[in-house]
Amino acid sequence: MVTITRTIISGILAVIVLGATAAAPALADGHEIKFRKSVMKAVGGAMGGLAAVLKGKAPAKTAVPLAETMSQIAKVVPHVFPEGSDFGETTAIAAIWDKPAEFKMAVDAFTTAAAAMPAAAATGGDAFGAAFGTLGKSCKGCHENFREKKDK
Ligand code: HEC
Repeated sequence: MVTITRTIISGILAVIVLGATAAAPALADGHEIKFRKSVMKAVGGAMGGLAAVLKGKAPAKTAVPLAETMSQIAKVVPHVFPEGSDFGETTAIAAIWDKPAEFKMAVDAFTTAAAAMPAAAATGGDAFGAAFGTLGKSCKGCHENFREKKDK
């Protein structure tokens, strides 16, 4: 009985282990891209929230927490572009890795603009609007140069 149980257990283990081995290449093909898209969606979500506040369509008291969310998620962005993650379901283009200096400038422009958001949101008014404008330009600057054009 014990032997039979052991046999069954090792059979189950074999399925789990072999199953995991078989699935590994597929995951390796896409996990960096999935991570990047999740992070970018969070960036987009925080941006949408900030835009709503600026338009007067969301409570003003949400401005600072949204700005803090943006400044925090911005710290993740430099880590979502590992070498070789331009294959698969992605609109990231090879220029990211072919032009590292230019790409770093685009990342830095964004992280600097995002880091300035909490103080600007706390000040409110024109300072908030101006900081949001600078931040928006940094998104555009990177998307225009390092992301496939939408009409492609
Ligand atoms: C340093 C470059 C860079 C910056 C800065 C940047 N993005 Fe992106 N973003 C990308 C790239 C590259 C993609 C494509 C990701 C992919 O398909 O793998 C992307 C994709 C996205 C997506 C789509 C995610 C999805 O579901 O596939 C959204 C939304 C987005 N960005 C919003 C923003 C906003 C808002 C900002 C500014 C606050 C911003 N991004 C700043 C490079 C950047």
